[in-house]
Amino acid sequence: MGIMNKLFAQAGKPSGRFGRFIGRAMNSGHARLHRWGLSHVSIASDVVILDIGCGGGKAVQNMGGIAAGGKVFGIDHSDDMVQLSRKTNAVLIEAGRVEITRASVSSLPFPDDSFDLVTAFETFYFWPDMIVDLKEVHRVLKPGGTLLIVNAAYGHEKFAKRNARITRFGGFTLHTPEELHDVLTGAGYPDVIVHEAVQKNWIAVVAKKN
Ligand SMILES: C[S@@+](CC[C@H](N)C(=O)[O-])C[C@H]1O[C@@H](n2cnc3c(N)ncnc32)[C@H](O)[C@@H]1O
Repeated sequence: MGIMNKLFAQAGKPSGRFGRFIGRAMNSGHARLHRWGLSHVSIASDVVILDIGCGGGKAVQNMGGIAAGGKVFGIDHSDDMVQLSRKTNAVLIEAGRVEITRASVSSLPFPDDSFDLVTAFETFYFWPDMIVDLKEVHRVLKPGGTLLIVNAAYGHEKFAKRNARITRFGGFTLHTPEELHDVLTGAGYPDVIVHEAVQKNWIAVVAKKN
């Protein structure tokens, strides 16, 4: 496996010493993306939030600060990211405002209708089955709840060359805004708004459950 394939494999499931290094790097490197993504939703102080693929846990920590009277849950399928995320959020966990669990998006360990907001930063590319997994997220959202997907790359001709490299090494597809819209509506979300930062090739998809 080449170095680029290894890097993308680590991004999809960071593990070991190098994985923990990547997790810490993502905590600082994704800060602006997290802020931009979160600017597209309003978060009341008493909401219950789930962050899927929480990695090093920085977005969980930020949202824990906003939802001061609510609770933020994080899940990740990597043991090492669960440990790192717990470390990042030690104070909020101690206060009972954050919980981090090892789980896959495909089988979320939560009852139906649990969350006001579900977030997914830089993780959607890696999900094993987009439609099945989006339906699983739909199950745990409360009626009227919101799913926010934020990615730092999407299908757009301006970034065609770079994105061809990403899809080659990553082994996944970068969808266009129209494709993402259709995937979300196909998975049962009737109300989908797609925001683009075209110059950066960032995308934020806000999808509501009826
Ligand atoms: C590129 S990292 C992003 C981490 C974090 N959300 C951030 O923005 O810094 C992708 C994360 O998604 C997690 N992930 C990938 N596929 C997953 C799945 N099927 N279920 C749960 N977590 C998953 C990975 O383990 C990794 O921590």
